[in-house]
Amino acid sequence: MNQSEKEQYLREYSILKNEGKPFFPYAVAKDSIMAVIVMLVIMFLSMEFGAELGPKANPTTTTYVPRPDWYFFFLFEVFRVMKEVPKYTPFAAIGIPTLCMLGLFLLPIYDRSPERLITKRPLALAAGLMTIVTIAFLTVEGSSTGSPNEVQVTPPSGLTASERTAFYAGEIVVGESGCLGCHLIGDYGNNGPGPPLTHIAKILEPGGIAATLRNPTAPMPSFAGLAQQSPKKFKYLVEFLSLLH
Ligand code: HEC
Repeated sequence: MNQSEKEQYLREYSILKNEGKPFFPYAVAKDSIMAVIVMLVIMFLSMEFGAELGPKANPTTTTYVPRPDWYFFFLFEVFRVMKEVPKYTPFAAIGIPTLCMLGLFLLPIYDRSPERLITKRPLALAAGLMTIVTIAFLTVEGSSTGSPNEVQVTPPSGLTASERTAFYAGEIVVGESGCLGCHLIGDYGNNGPGPPLTHIAKILEPGGIAATLRNPTAPMPSFAGLAQQSPKKFKYLVEFLSLLH
């Protein structure tokens, strides 16, 4: 801002200030009225429609897929993408949002341009649009991704149609059963306390895999219950693991 611009600004400011209304009580009263209206609308909505209560929390479930509320999908998606590289996950959850907030907080310090016209501020316009588009894109992506513990390893080539079906079905059972809490399959899951299962078929025959699932060594939980309740799921699980060469 040069000297003459500054003087012009100060002149306009003092004219507007003389014309203007004081913050108290004028703006305070307006804000208060709006606040009351918003409160009344919320009260009306909650009395008329109520809030949805999900099913009672069940701590023993292994099939529950945790999802954030929709307005956090964008953050969830950043987290999900970064999860592929575990050492960066804290950065996704804390670093990126903090950096963005800091950027916004420091805006009055680094953006000193007196221009108000949006067409004369291409950088600010681009940054603003980019933010909106990015958040919208991440929200859509985050809303349509599957369970966060899903496995998506490529099936080996040359499978028969039924083996292929079992492979994909078994992948889902693995995701549902919490195996990834303790095992690594390809790039998915945790490395330990269980051994990686990426090439488990090289070590164990299908019979051995099924026997391990029924009678595992602690801390691995037994999946004999699954075999009893959903023999089909158990069969897919064993078939899937038997195809991991
Ligand atoms: C609480 C952690 C945990 C969970 C959950 C778990 N496992 Fe394990 N798993 C282990 C541990 C630990 C071992 C090693 C046991 C041993 O040393 O005998 C193991 C061993 C195995 C083995 C034998 C590996 C080998 O090299 O001999 C297989 C196969 C296996 N798990 C499959 C699964 C599958 C499939 C699931 C999900 C349906 C699952 N595990 C869930 C902890 C777990």
